[in-house]
Amino acid sequence: MAFAVLFALVTLAAVSRAAPTAVCSDGTRVSNAACCAFIPLAEDLQNTIFLNDCGEDTHEAIRLTFHDAVAISRSQGPSVGGGADGSMLLFPTIEPNFSANNGIDDSVNNLIPFLAKHPTISAGDLVQFAGAVALSNCPGAPQLEFLAGRPNHTIAAADGLIPEPQDSVTKILERFDDAGGFTPFEVVSLLASHTVARADHVDETLEAAPFDSTPFTFDTQVFLEVLLKGVGFPGTDNNTGEVASPLPIGSGNDTGEIRLQSDFALARDERTACFWQSFVNEQEFMASSFKAAMSKLAILGHSRESLIDCSDVVPVPKPAVNTPASFPATTGPKDLELTCAAERFPTLSVNPGAQQTLIPHCSSGGQDCPSVQFAGPA
Ligand code: HEM
Ligand SMILES: *[C@@H]1O[C@H](CO)[C@@H](O)[C@H](O)[C@H]1NC(C)=O
Ligand SMILES: *[C@@H]1O[C@H](CO)[C@@H](O)[C@H](O)[C@H]1NC(C)=O
Ligand SMILES: *[C@@H]1O[C@H](CO)[C@@H](O)[C@H](O)[C@H]1NC(C)=O
Ligand SMILES: *[C@@H]1O[C@H](CO)[C@@H](O)[C@H](O)[C@H]1NC(C)=O
Repeated sequence: MAFAVLFALVTLAAVSRAAPTAVCSDGTRVSNAACCAFIPLAEDLQNTIFLNDCGEDTHEAIRLTFHDAVAISRSQGPSVGGGADGSMLLFPTIEPNFSANNGIDDSVNNLIPFLAKHPTISAGDLVQFAGAVALSNCPGAPQLEFLAGRPNHTIAAADGLIPEPQDSVTKILERFDDAGGFTPFEVVSLLASHTVARADHVDETLEAAPFDSTPFTFDTQVFLEVLLKGVGFPGTDNNTGEVASPLPIGSGNDTGEIRLQSDFALARDERTACFWQSFVNEQEFMASSFKAAMSKLAILGHSRESLIDCSDVVPVPKPAVNTPASFPATTGPKDLELTCAAERFPTLSVNPGAQQTLIPHCSSGGQDCPSVQFAGPA
């Protein structure tokens, strides 16, 4: 008797644990039929924009997830923005025009045609799903959670809600707290995104100036390189929001590394420095922390309960390269500017060479890799 009851309970548990399934028209089994529409969308995004590459268009779509979502305020209320609501795509002549969104028009114009091509998918879902698909092209990135069902928003966000690189650490931490109760650890976790990032508008004389020496892989190199002593500027000096970088030398389309003042400050501030240091050479920890913080960012303005879990339609990311973090040639442990005493800094190898190695402009290693840019209203 006791055994039979136990057996029944075990069977019941197994049944209720198994996710309900639906079969999409292409034969894929998913947890909810509402997820099926995202399978052709992922394919379309890859074939049309991202090309399975962790390049410029991919980076821009990842940045857009942040700029759409963070435009919400707990203190100012719903009239200033709805969070991850697609308002950037729905009001393309308003939000992309804010100075903190400089350059976001590329990703906005690239995504707008997908609204008409995939009309059952809302703008907010499109932005966050595109970011998850984009990220899967970057080796070492986590497979992001994706929840579907954000309604199309009806108002544009107000200006002033997007953090800028010239902002103080206090201002940045307060903004993230006001947007969605992010902790300092979560803020640093989100900045793992800057491992696959390059700036076009911090120094207007440069196109695609990378934040680390490996902008096409989701590795921990950015957390190491931002801790190194700055020695110069890749283009013109002292632009707003910019400080000296450790690898400023460039040639042709291979620009030297650029450093944001905000990344520099977060890496050294007593509220965030230990979190920053803790990600150096900790690939798994960095990726899982980024994933957790992105789960929160991607649903700002919505309750989890109102959305449907479609994580099973997010492509599996390319595996990590698994090269340990290392000091780029010409740099070494003597250049570290560590302010977190509580944590032991890992022992890392130093890449040989008396000259700074150029950072390639293209993931292929070459200098000519035009990005896809659709004309559009933004
Ligand atoms: C303190 C907060 C942040 C500040 C001040 C900041 C600032 C910036 C700036 C100034 C750029 C260069 C834009 C350009 O000139 O083209 C940039 C690029 C980028 N940011 Fe951030 N960012 C922050 C947080 C984030 C977060 C949370 C994410 C994503 C989760 C993100 C993802 C990116 C990406 C992927 C790029 C590269 C875009 C490209 O290569 O085209 N950033 N960020
Ligand atoms: C915003 O729009 C105005 C007028 O249409 C234009 O002059 C300005 O350059 C735009 N600003 C940005 C940051 O694109
Ligand atoms: C959201 O708005 C866009 C643009 O107007 C439209 O193309 C799309 O069908 C709408 N999606 C939903 C789910 O309402
Ligand atoms: C840039 O800023 C640094 C640090 O504030 C300063 O020492 C340097 O003189 C500035 N360079 C220029 C060209 O303004
Ligand atoms: C730099 O990029 C541009 C635009 O893609 C291209 O036309 C040019 O040939 C590239 N330069 C080199 C040296 O490859």
